[in-house]
Amino acid sequence: MAQITTTSELRDITKMERIGAHSHIRGLGLNDLLEPRSGPDSEGMIGQAKARKAAGLILKMVRERKIAGRAILMAGPPSSGKTAIAMGMAQTLGTDVPFTMISASEVFSLSMSKTEALTQAFRRSIGVRIKEETEIIEGEVVEIQIDRSLTGAQTTGRLTIKTQDMETVYDLGTKMIDALTKEKIIAGDVISIDRASGKINKLGRSYARSRDYDATGADTKFVQTPSGELQTRREVVHTVSLHEIDVINSRTQGFLALFAGDTGEIKPELRAQIDGKVGEWREEGKAEIVPGVLFIDEVHMLDIECFSFLNRALEQELSPLVIMASNRGMARIRGTTYKSPHGLPVDLLDRVLIITTAKYTDDDIEKIIQIRCAEEDTKLSDDALKILTTMASQTTLRYALNLISCAQVVALKRKSPAGLVDVDDLRRCYSFFLDEKRSVQWVGEGTAGLIGEDDGQDTRKDRMEE
Ligand SMILES: Nc1ncnc2c1ncn2[C@@H]1O[C@H](COP(=O)(O)OP(=O)(O)OP(=O)(O)O)[C@@H](O)[C@H]1O
Ligand SMILES: [Mg+2]
Repeated sequence: MAQITTTSELRDITKMERIGAHSHIRGLGLNDLLEPRSGPDSEGMIGQAKARKAAGLILKMVRERKIAGRAILMAGPPSSGKTAIAMGMAQTLGTDVPFTMISASEVFSLSMSKTEALTQAFRRSIGVRIKEETEIIEGEVVEIQIDRSLTGAQTTGRLTIKTQDMETVYDLGTKMIDALTKEKIIAGDVISIDRASGKINKLGRSYARSRDYDATGADTKFVQTPSGELQTRREVVHTVSLHEIDVINSRTQGFLALFAGDTGEIKPELRAQIDGKVGEWREEGKAEIVPGVLFIDEVHMLDIECFSFLNRALEQELSPLVIMASNRGMARIRGTTYKSPHGLPVDLLDRVLIITTAKYTDDDIEKIIQIRCAEEDTKLSDDALKILTTMASQTTLRYALNLISCAQVVALKRKSPAGLVDVDDLRRCYSFFLDEKRSVQWVGEGTAGLIGEDDGQDTRKDRMEE
């Protein structure tokens, strides 16, 4: 059990912030009545009111635990915000409810079977909230003393820590010294140490030290030195996913596999054991199941075997809410010769609630472009904004959004004042890069000399039918 606690650190490592296609999205932008907000409170979301409301309603049901084991399909044309809404849902749920996002094609891997990959995705999306009593040392650091032996091989040390009422000296082992160094703990910090796992938490700087300017930055948090006993017992709650418990307990993989992401297949017997154990914890009141959300993007890439697995998995006792997204109309189901709406077999389709996303109006497109420009630190002139909006409605929103960063580079290159992007910069980028329609046309003309199965004829139609 001691190991399981450290998994919360994992999340911090894997969640890196960067400017991605959806980094402007911070939630669904709904108010308490699930009405979409606009303006600065919209959490980066524009338009698509119906789909957002529906998504909000679903989340409400997830939070109230009314909807596990069901499936939702988001259907709509390309770049109409299906993935964006899913990201918004993930943000709204927060870190306590697991949200797993996979693309259907990830299921086809050489290192494990399709059903194993799906099972892992399912179990990643089911949280177990475990309550534990741990002993905690909490106080203000008075002094850290580290003695290195001459060879450097052995390090010992002592930590003096106090509350307002008492002071104690603890001997430090190498592991604790490393942890203290890693967290950059210095005298005057108020910290808490989990005795079982050795995890150190920096709570802030002591008020008494608020005059030590050299050790404080702009974002330094000052806290009161705790009073009373140094050691206290405290109930801590942490949420881990069933999959994390599986991996940690599978003897061949062990804890490190979680970092590598290379978990391999997990034996069904082990899973059964873990389910049993979790069941016991639940009965003893030590743990609670938190069904989360599994989002499968581009779900039409799954094949008939995966779909039949989904059908069954959804009916099991421990099942998350499954949200799928597809941009296909009538499409062939992989692994069969049938066609079916959205590329989903009808029996699965029958079990899902369908949320549709619609094409954007010019007004919405303009607002989305503005948000993306702010996100990418790019300024467009008014005319450029109008042109880019027109481009988006004639090509696709995604193409237009992709042009933003290219146009910025072009504008900077010609030393435009303050890097302002103008119509010409956009025009140049438009001529540099084909959009989907022009590429279809180019290929279709047959003059490009490309090798094709049917000389490029009807490429577009084929693709839509795939
Ligand atoms: N309502 C919206 N508000 C803000 N940004 C949006 C909205 N809808 C889409 N976007 C942005 O537009 C881009 C394209 O949208 P998205 O990737 O969500 O489309 P999609 O429906 O998943 O398309 P596909 O079917 O091709 O996967 C993304 O960068 C997304 O963040
Ligand atoms: Mg998408």
